[in-house]
Amino acid sequence: MRHPEHGAIYRQAGRARWRSRTTDLRVTDASIRYAVDPMSTGPSVYLETFGCQMNELDSELVRGHLRSLGYRFTEDFTTADVVLYNTCSVREQAENKAYSRLGLVGLRKKAGEQVILGVLGCMAERDGADMLRRFPQVDLLCGPGELDRLPALIDNVRRTEGAAREERIALAGNKSRRSTTLAAADDHLELLDLSRAFDPVEPGSDRRSAYVRITRGCNKFCTYCVVPNTRGAEVHRPPDSIIDECKRLVDAGVIEITLLGQTVNHYRYTHGLAVDTDGREQPQVGPGLAAFRAPIAAGDRVTTFARLLERIHNEVPDLKRLRFVTSYPRDFGDDILDVMAACPRICRYIHAPAQSGSNRILKAMNRGYTREEYLEFIARVTDRLPDCTIAGDIIVGFPTETDAEFEETVSLVRAVPFKNNFIFKYSPRPGTVAIDRFEDDVPTEIKKLRNNLLLDIQSEVSRKAHSAWVGRTVDVLIEEIRSERGQAQPESTGSSLSLDLAHPDSRKIELRWNRRQGGQRVGTQAVGRTAGDLITAIDLPESLANDHQSLVGSIVAVEITESAPLLLRARMLSSNSKTALAASESR
Ligand code: 5AD
Ligand code: SF4
Repeated sequence: MRHPEHGAIYRQAGRARWRSRTTDLRVTDASIRYAVDPMSTGPSVYLETFGCQMNELDSELVRGHLRSLGYRFTEDFTTADVVLYNTCSVREQAENKAYSRLGLVGLRKKAGEQVILGVLGCMAERDGADMLRRFPQVDLLCGPGELDRLPALIDNVRRTEGAAREERIALAGNKSRRSTTLAAADDHLELLDLSRAFDPVEPGSDRRSAYVRITRGCNKFCTYCVVPNTRGAEVHRPPDSIIDECKRLVDAGVIEITLLGQTVNHYRYTHGLAVDTDGREQPQVGPGLAAFRAPIAAGDRVTTFARLLERIHNEVPDLKRLRFVTSYPRDFGDDILDVMAACPRICRYIHAPAQSGSNRILKAMNRGYTREEYLEFIARVTDRLPDCTIAGDIIVGFPTETDAEFEETVSLVRAVPFKNNFIFKYSPRPGTVAIDRFEDDVPTEIKKLRNNLLLDIQSEVSRKAHSAWVGRTVDVLIEEIRSERGQAQPESTGSSLSLDLAHPDSRKIELRWNRRQGGQRVGTQAVGRTAGDLITAIDLPESLANDHQSLVGSIVAVEITESAPLLLRARMLSSNSKTALAASESR
């Protein structure tokens, strides 16, 4: 149902104001829809997000939930009434950034300002109540599995001076791993996903791309990784809930959806096992690896990942692009590749982290596949989907990694047509198996050296993967318009355009333009992505100058004219520029 004034999806029931005396503001009705009051004068909230796409999605849900309760959002943490950090524990660096932010808010408190400081996400879950001891300025902690309880925690702190610890902390502990039932019991978090707000009048929400979670948590226990501890066991959402969410997003103007799961191809939902008293299907704990790999029992009604993709593609016909991340290199069956080949709106893009090219290191990481199996998987992909782009993650300097083993990673990177790889230096994380089992014995200098060497090699590989697209006609979803505006830019660094690509964790792209390109001024360009997630800068004809901004959010056909290691350059095909403008005007 659309809001009559500003298009928000809403339902009056379930609405609550921030002044509410209610202590438990959990979402309690599966069919709740948010109502957002754009004139709200409630407390202001600053929310900053670190880490992966899951965190970005969590923050979006938190924003929608708090807005529906009358909170306003601000970009200025120095004046906000409530400051929230949605944190990441995957590497120490990410944690250090968040700790320094806590220090800054601490200064506001020392100066006597009234501000509520909350830590959300993986650091809250990992550090637990210990964080309150080390950072007394922190008022509340909320783990990633408890975000539906955040408004109640804020409310408790606001109303009760010195609220008791248990009223300020919502953490899952490891209770999600103790569940022995197939239904993810007491799954209030599902309701937060279901009740997602999508309010086109809010700043930034005119995006045409959205994330949809299909699986929470992870069961793989790679030895270096904190995620299974902080996000708990794998829980799969019912297919109908996922499809319903996709439909609502598309009704609200979204044209590109990225399905999220830590190992997205391990999605599997067995029907009839987890149903509530009204007959509605509930999220369910994922099968263990052995059960996943066993043939599906006769009589079981199962939605596999391939089937889910196919259903979304067919049942949400106005969705222009369907993507998914992150793929686990094992258990990526031909059934998924066949669906990708048959469904034109499923993007031919796979992000499948190899992590290492050495079998001994892969074993020490508990990745569950060999170098040969990874390469066999890539061969199947490129065989069936020749134009599929491939991205990955690599960790260098894992404990005990020798020069020769690092060389095996180098040769793996050379052997795969990766469009890009995100390369990380191993960071020992408390709570992981690796930190107990191995000494972090690769010196920092060696890690840095391997990191830089691999970046150079990846750059060559990326250059080749991008250059293969020159001369081809592709569709690009435009994300932003960049113009030189006459101001001085850094001189050319060799390639005509240089760019900074953040980790897929954040997916933000930042392009830096050089002032001169072959002696020519760089004019206004539209920047977007191909279906294969290749960043593309499109030179815009001056004749469209007045309409540039309206191109954002539309898909245009372009011809690729040049390439750099991480960037394509293109020209707009004259036949479609008018069509794109017309389409964007009729939105
Ligand atoms: N140290 C370095 N990199 C890590 N990653 C996960 N844990 C660690 C760690 N302890 C990387 C992996 C993963 C990506 C999201 O972060 O490459 O795929
Ligand atoms: Fe972490 Fe491994 Fe799970 Fe990925 S598959 S989230 S690296 S444990």
